[in-house]
Amino acid sequence: MSDITIVEVAPRDGFQAIEPLIPTPRKLEIIRALLLSGFERIELGAFVSPKALPQMADIGSLLEQLSLGDGVRPAVLVPNRKGFELALAHGVRDIVYVISVSESHNRANVRRSVDESFAELADALESFEGRRFRTRLNLATCFHCPYEGRIDPARVLALVERATELSDQIELNLCDTTGRAAPSEVQSLFEAARRRLGEDGPALSFHGHDTYNLGIANALAAYEGGARVFDAAAAGLGGCPFAPGATGNTATEDLVFAFELMGISTGIHLDRLLEAADLAARIEGGRAGGRVRLLPRENVLAGLG
Ligand code: COA
Ligand code: ZN
Repeated sequence: MSDITIVEVAPRDGFQAIEPLIPTPRKLEIIRALLLSGFERIELGAFVSPKALPQMADIGSLLEQLSLGDGVRPAVLVPNRKGFELALAHGVRDIVYVISVSESHNRANVRRSVDESFAELADALESFEGRRFRTRLNLATCFHCPYEGRIDPARVLALVERATELSDQIELNLCDTTGRAAPSEVQSLFEAARRRLGEDGPALSFHGHDTYNLGIANALAAYEGGARVFDAAAAGLGGCPFAPGATGNTATEDLVFAFELMGISTGIHLDRLLEAADLAARIEGGRAGGRVRLLPRENVLAGLG
């Protein structure tokens, strides 16, 4: 058992930000390398409109070609009821539904109002009740919206509560979509959400971007605020194509390094992860980030695990 869980999201959030289509075999090669690093949870892609996001259009065939070891929980992101249907039809048991706190980002991203997105989630949960799957809710723009600016934490807390009214089994993933959150804001939002939900309430996780070089600081602030599940993308790839100005996710290898250095175990083999991140960094059209990947390996790994 590790102290925290890192969810690798490069195959979804990372690849979606890359415009030239990545051949499916190349995606599979990187995903297999990531799995060798020890991830239990990995977001493999999204069932979304192929017109909205052509890069994700091969998710069905990718899932069919990938044989996953025991204990691996592959997840896919979905924006609507049709996404739930497709995910379940492909045997996926971890479904990530996305709703933005900000009305304008939700419309830009999924062409719905926040109310409509919630109604569709409620409908899907009811329709597919009895099918065995776990739901995670990505609450996007929890801190800052590219269209509306700073987000009042009260709006986030209201949606957190609304989600738990649908089900107390949903993992709530508080997302800093643009990377503009301050660590102090991150910690206080996690503390406030935990107070609101109670100690035995639903799991809270953090999804950060490194646009302003605060990705690691924000993840550590979320940890201080009680989060134990964190999203990150190998090689710091990533970004929502519908959030202008946002860059990549916090680099997984940097996050693993930071936690392990603090004696907080992640369960990830950093040496293997660095190799997978090197592969991910070489994707044509990608914009890689992160720091530890660029340093001499023996320096990075010295004294760890
Ligand atoms: N999976 C695959 N295809 C889907 C789909 C899904 N979940 N939902 C819709 N589609 C297809 C439809 O079948 C339709 O195809 P067709 O034109 O061949 O008939 C097409 O996409 C448009 O469907 P429609 O229901 O009219 O959607 P829309 O144009 O109003 O767009 C969304 C709404 C939600 C489907 C679209 O905005 C979307 O996919 N957004 C996701 C954006 C994203 O991934 N952002 C980054 C991650 S947070
Ligand atoms: Zn993201």
